[in-house]
Amino acid sequence: MKKLKIDNIEIAENPLFLAPMEDITDRSFRYICKEFGADMLYTEFVASEALIRDIYKSKTKLIIDKPERPVGIQLYGHNIDAMVEAAKIAEEAKPDLIDINYGCPVRKIATRGAGAGMLRDIPKMIEMTKQIVDAVKLPVTVKTRLSWDHESTKIDEIAERLQDTGIKALTIHGRTRNQLYKGTSDWTLIGKVKNNPNIFIPIIGNGDVKNGRDAREKFERYGVDAIMIGRAAIGKPWVFKEIKHYLEFGEEMTPLTVPEKVQIAKKHFLKAIEIKGLPRGYYESRRHFSLYFKGLPHFKETRLKLLTSVNTDEILEILNNIENTYKDF
Ligand SMILES: Cc1cc2nc3c(=O)[nH]c(=O)nc-3n(C[C@H](O)[C@H](O)[C@H](O)COP(=O)(O)O)c2cc1C
Repeated sequence: MKKLKIDNIEIAENPLFLAPMEDITDRSFRYICKEFGADMLYTEFVASEALIRDIYKSKTKLIIDKPERPVGIQLYGHNIDAMVEAAKIAEEAKPDLIDINYGCPVRKIATRGAGAGMLRDIPKMIEMTKQIVDAVKLPVTVKTRLSWDHESTKIDEIAERLQDTGIKALTIHGRTRNQLYKGTSDWTLIGKVKNNPNIFIPIIGNGDVKNGRDAREKFERYGVDAIMIGRAAIGKPWVFKEIKHYLEFGEEMTPLTVPEKVQIAKKHFLKAIEIKGLPRGYYESRRHFSLYFKGLPHFKETRLKLLTSVNTDEILEILNNIENTYKDF
């Protein structure tokens, strides 16, 4: 098995990518996922219009820490000039690549023609991609869905045209825009793109991969070059380690104990407040912590405390109490 390369970026064999996720894949979460073996990371999507207007919050999303490389900055927008300009601004932040989002299904984004909305205007999608590729020196990649709906042009008909623009990899989420997150991902078309003899850029499959079994099936059955994992990593950044263990040894990794999860939660918490300060760092990462401990018996009260506290010592104390109370879990 050969290592995956996206342009000149060397990535692992059977690589697992952390999906870009708004309000989730910030620097502290990326840091933790990297520790557990995520091979490629992406920022949350950044609105091109906000970047060119120099909006502070969007600018901070461009910040990348050295240990997380390789990392991509993801951009979205409906206006070609704004996207080109934003790509140039993103390039100055020195990510390893720039990813274009043609997959976001959210109404206010997609119906304005950005994100998955671009799947309703393929000529514009191709033109935008080409102009961005031509405007920056960094590799450009695309992340999209199967199509807008079941009737519209599908990714197997679009992939070659996207490749012709000069993009260096293509990620496909196996749902249509109209499916939003409902139903299950259909990987058949992802496999069809991957097995098209005219496609030579890496194809990254995405959708509903939750564990090692899923990942092995997707690699073996569809031959994708990498698998991207989104929701399964929320509240469980160690999913990358679990999957890698399964891919290597063909059996499940011993589940983490509660004390081990507490150590991860503390690290995540401290990183979040180091980066964003209090209380913001905590507000923006606390949803993960209660998910870390999902399924523990009699956890309701502690969960509430975890979600409402804003004081560092208090939060660390709650985490210590979890460790003591559930040390045998
Ligand atoms: C909370 C949340 C935020 C997301 N934000 C983005 C985003 O910013 N950019 C993007 O391309 N996809 C985004 N997605 C889609 C994911 O990247 C991924 O394609 C989707 O969740 C399917 O993969 P999964 O089944 O592994 O979760 C988001 C998904 C979720 C659940």
